[in-house]
Amino acid sequence: MMTGNPPRQATAVAQPNIALVKYWGKRNEKLNLPAVSSLSITLDALHTRTRVGFDEAFETDSFLLNGSPADATRVTACLDHLRALAGTDVRAAIVTENDYPTAAGLASSAAGFAALVVAADAALGLGLLPRALSLYARRGSGSAARSIFGGFVEMARGEREDGNDAVARALLDAHAWPLGVVIAVTSTSAKPVGSTEGMRATAASSPFYAAWVDSARADLTQARRAIMARDFGGLAAISEHSCLKMHGLGFAARPPLIYWNETTMACLHAVRELRAGGTPVFYTIDAGPQVKAVCLPEAIEDVAATLSGISGVLQVITSGLGAGARVVEDL
Ligand code: DP6
Repeated sequence: MMTGNPPRQATAVAQPNIALVKYWGKRNEKLNLPAVSSLSITLDALHTRTRVGFDEAFETDSFLLNGSPADATRVTACLDHLRALAGTDVRAAIVTENDYPTAAGLASSAAGFAALVVAADAALGLGLLPRALSLYARRGSGSAARSIFGGFVEMARGEREDGNDAVARALLDAHAWPLGVVIAVTSTSAKPVGSTEGMRATAASSPFYAAWVDSARADLTQARRAIMARDFGGLAAISEHSCLKMHGLGFAARPPLIYWNETTMACLHAVRELRAGGTPVFYTIDAGPQVKAVCLPEAIEDVAATLSGISGVLQVITSGLGAGARVVEDL
């Protein structure tokens, strides 16, 4: 005799994104609403593959990350929103594999929650539109809302209290303006202060926080214009400014929040020197010590060679721009 419903499962792939205009700070922590809008590029060389299988027989969600059991708390919280929509409380087995180092400042949570939401949507048969997928990915991690889309992506802070307008949208396709990204890995240790906690500490104690929030809209407009005009120099200037401004907030927090190591600084100077010599490249750095150098495709080999020659650089990963999160065949 059959008992319950058959298991429902789906697999999705998503890729990390790198913010050029940074998201840092929340206007509502419970709903995970960003205090500022942001703008990112989705990468093509790094992948997160997540399989979600719902089964009436499971008593709890289980989460396997790169082959090891991992804490399912944030995954469960994110899935609960989708279960509520589907009118079910069925539990799931979640299996995630990253083909790049996890927790090394490469935005694995962004690709992770994007893949999770897309797979769970398919497994539950919800058929959500990309805007709604972005909204639910945001509940998991703010930057994940952007990995639903490929290419150049803008994430709105939104104005509504319920956060239904705090979603990402595609600005420009990956092929419309191909860029290269060179990631210089300068440490493989997990970062000492996670983004969520770092944002909270900065908002509470950095005297620059109000200025950061006030100036974000203008930064976004400038970046969007540079992208639409394919103005690499313009995009370089606003991206480096947004990055340094975000880290400046942390330097001025009490206690200070310093994500860089000496190799981070050496890479930053190397990128500046390359650009001074005519190479079209700029840097950006997230809440960790890795440096991401964004360049025109013809410069990618030179940039990778320069960064890998810097003492303290452990690995260099190169990528182009890629697609948004999508359902794939089960392996
Ligand atoms: C520095 O998206 O990881 O990478 O919403 O708390 O999960 P939570 O934060 P998260 O923060 C990303 C911060 C950043 C900048 C960015 O990606 O815009």
